[in-house]
Amino acid sequence: MPVVELGPGHCDALLRFFTALPEGDLTFIEEEVTDPATVRSWAAGDSPGRRWVSVDAGGNEVTGYVAVRRLPGWSDHVGEVRLVVAPSRRGTGLGRELARQALVGAVSAGLSKLVVEIVAEQGSALALFTDLGFSGEALLRDHIRDRDGRLRDLMVLAHHVQETWAGMDTVGIADELDAPAG
Ligand SMILES: CC(C)(COP(=O)(O)OP(=O)(O)OC[C@H]1O[C@@H](n2cnc3c(N)ncnc32)[C@H](O)[C@@H]1OP(=O)(O)O)[C@@H](O)C(=O)NCCC(=O)NCCS
Repeated sequence: MPVVELGPGHCDALLRFFTALPEGDLTFIEEEVTDPATVRSWAAGDSPGRRWVSVDAGGNEVTGYVAVRRLPGWSDHVGEVRLVVAPSRRGTGLGRELARQALVGAVSAGLSKLVVEIVAEQGSALALFTDLGFSGEALLRDHIRDRDGRLRDLMVLAHHVQETWAGMDTVGIADELDAPAG
């Protein structure tokens, strides 16, 4: 399933994708993703940050989304990752592929640190980011409430680009960065 940079042609499909997500998943994006104007500005490239989507074989439906946004001010060397895959497509490697694309994009853009927030019990998110060289940097206890109102811990994982360069070699990302853009 191809992963491509978000473009104007994906606008309607991306809106359908976000609107169909369960409410709990939307909390990971933390932006007004069901608002057509917001999504249109992303697709047109008018908003800060880089975004990619995975699309189905026909190219009509978005099946996953990842974004990297540079933090402002004195943290503008840090990028924050947001990742979500359609519930019906999970467990097929799509999350891994999208996260890898975000990492390549962030490193090419010169970011030296990436962070991602995950719910502490979420095994798949932890596994895929750990394999890309992310590690636990903070644990915020009882920081979020799930849909049933139960308190959950939030983990902040971080990827320090210089320190993990050797690790990136193992997943072939260094080769991708060396390849001519296009
Ligand atoms: C986290 C998320 C993006 C993962 O997407 P996905 O497409 O299912 O991920 P993948 O199929 O690439 O799986 C990644 C790895 O997770 C592991 N995994 C999958 N399900 C798992 C589970 N239930 N428990 C533990 N590990 C699991 C596997 O190791 C898998 O790798 P594999 O290729 O070795 O099998 C998806 O569950 C999601 O959208 N969740 C809601 C939003 C979210 O939590 N985003 C992350 C923070 S921004």
